Amino acid sequence: MKTLGFGLGLRPAHYQDILRDRPRVDWFEVLTENYLVPGGSPLHYLEQVRREFPIAMHGVSMSIGSTEPLDYGYLRDLKQLISRFEPTWVSDHLCWTGIDGHNLHDLLPLPYTEETVRHVVDRILRVQDYLGLQLLLENVSSYLTYKTSEMTEWDFLTRVADGADCHLLLDVNNIYVSSVNHRFDPLAYLAGVPARRVRQIHLAGHQNNGTHIIDTHDAPVAAPVWDLYGDAVRILGEVTTMIERDDNIPVLAELVDELDVARTIASQHLAAVA
Ligand SMILES: [Fe+2]
Repeated sequence: MKTLGFGLGLRPAHYQDILRDRPRVDWFEVLTENYLVPGGSPLHYLEQVRREFPIAMHGVSMSIGSTEPLDYGYLRDLKQLISRFEPTWVSDHLCWTGIDGHNLHDLLPLPYTEETVRHVVDRILRVQDYLGLQLLLENVSSYLTYKTSEMTEWDFLTRVADGADCHLLLDVNNIYVSSVNHRFDPLAYLAGVPARRVRQIHLAGHQNNGTHIIDTHDAPVAAPVWDLYGDAVRILGEVTTMIERDDNIPVLAELVDELDVARTIASQHLAAVA
């Protein structure tokens, strides 16, 4: 499958600049939840951006790992948004976000067990059937592990993606953060996931407080994450890439320059394998 190239998250602070300057950005990732309210300026701007750029839709509310019933109200709204804006693909997180009707507003990891694989695969199949597409699911960063886990995170991802015939969105920053917090080899992770299922990569900044690292998305991509991105391209080949910045959002030109760093690293590592 053709890649989309190098993208940025679409942020309201940049709407005007994007439409005026046509920046060196190949595509934009759109936060689904920001466009679920009918009317208003976000949808107006998204329509204009969509005329000029491919988009992917990225959500945080599917809670695919939860034991709560699937939220068909959310899925219906998502389906309407998909038919209106025709994103190249739709992604969410391989996690759970709430229990007993309370959204914990956090993307919590799952226990990596056979039972969880069966549970999550079943839910992904039902969502894919309802939406009529293959989802991309993203690895979340984690600060805790479950004593009940029976397999590595990368084996879990592989089992889920193969079982549900879905794709993966690999967040290289999250792999780095979790590898430091839980002391595993991030290269084993990259080598352990099925390359043919990886459709997109996320890059983002984090905060290192010495004893552990927190995935904050409020800073430029850190040097060790750039290094790991190079390894990811070497191991996985050419993959659609984007930089996520959710807080401390700089001017658009700064993120466009940061995206050029990703382009350079990717082409260097692809040239090295060629
Ligand atoms: Fe991410």
